[in-house]
Amino acid sequence: MTEYAIEVNKLTKKFDDFTAVDNLSLNVDEGEIFGFLGPNGAGKSTTIRMLCTLSQPTSGNAKVAGYDLMKDHAMVRENIGLVAEKMIMYDRLTASENLRFFGKLYAIPKQKLEERIDELLELVNMQEWKNTQISKFSTGMKQRINVIRALLPDPKILFMDEPTLGLDPQTTFSIRDITRDINKSGVTVILTTHAMTEAEALSDRVAIIDHGQIAALDTPHNLKKMISTSDTTIFSTRITNLTSQLIEKIKSLEVVTAVAHDNYDLKISASGSDSLNQIIDTIRREGGNISSIVNTAESTLEDVFLTVTGKDMRDHANEKSTTYNSHGQTPKSRVR
Ligand SMILES: Nc1ncnc2c1ncn2[C@@H]1O[C@H](COP(=O)(O)OP(=O)(O)OP(=O)(O)O)[C@@H](O)[C@H]1O
Ligand SMILES: [Mg+2]
Repeated sequence: MTEYAIEVNKLTKKFDDFTAVDNLSLNVDEGEIFGFLGPNGAGKSTTIRMLCTLSQPTSGNAKVAGYDLMKDHAMVRENIGLVAEKMIMYDRLTASENLRFFGKLYAIPKQKLEERIDELLELVNMQEWKNTQISKFSTGMKQRINVIRALLPDPKILFMDEPTLGLDPQTTFSIRDITRDINKSGVTVILTTHAMTEAEALSDRVAIIDHGQIAALDTPHNLKKMISTSDTTIFSTRITNLTSQLIEKIKSLEVVTAVAHDNYDLKISASGSDSLNQIIDTIRREGGNISSIVNTAESTLEDVFLTVTGKDMRDHANEKSTTYNSHGQTPKSRVR
């Protein structure tokens, strides 16, 4: 085995003129849970699909489990499992029939396959449902079967693309527990998510990705520390008569690096010791009613995202609300 589970070197994927993954380089350590955090369209699934040999990179390369992604498809595939964005399952088959079907695709010997199915059903607490038709399962139960399906060939590396998307909180917690158990058994896990809490709860390290590029990469703890030790402060405020003109005024302040808003709530990323005074003065001068303003003492991964990309995760699908300040400073240049 190599030192790294995955080494990504300038991986790029273009769809015609559009660059979905842009010169991505990073290493994933053996045994870690590595999270790709980014909004819709950031390039997370495209990256995963390339690393799983399902999509041909436009340029760049990677080593997966020590094997060359471009030259050694078969060996890469032998060492990985994928929990894809969309569940693939046959509703009319039972849990074990589904698993057996996929196990045969991996050419796992019959006896070994039966043992593996039992072992994996036990891992996710689903033994008693072994012979029940999948159509009778809740979404959470289906997802548990979907996850262990990827583990049938006993992979060294497990890719999970948005494993808890659309699940209720309880099921989400159980899938996260299962993910930790899988990781403890020695499997390196790469997961994608656009939920901050998920990235934080599970990952040893997180790469924040935006427009196919890494905006920041570190442990959740260090990412949060990065903005609390930089001169950037995040203010959360509610302005009951918020207007787009007022937002523009706030953005035009020299001390303000990014602004995101959701109805009457604003998140303002600012730097400099006098930033709070300036922001409050501006809001008052423009006739804004401040119903609350807090300096987010404990920064969140969402604040990091705002600081390194200059926009709110929610805003991202709608590029109109991308919020750079008027001096053309990209917030990226402020945080290293
Ligand atoms: N086959 C394709 N042809 C053209 N464009 C594509 C194709 N696949 C993905 N894209 C585009 O590439 C970008 C990245 O897509 P990708 O699915 O990797 O994003 P993502 O980060 O997984 O987002 P999501 O959170 O929505 O799953 C998007 O703008 C998407 O529209
Ligand atoms: Mg995706």
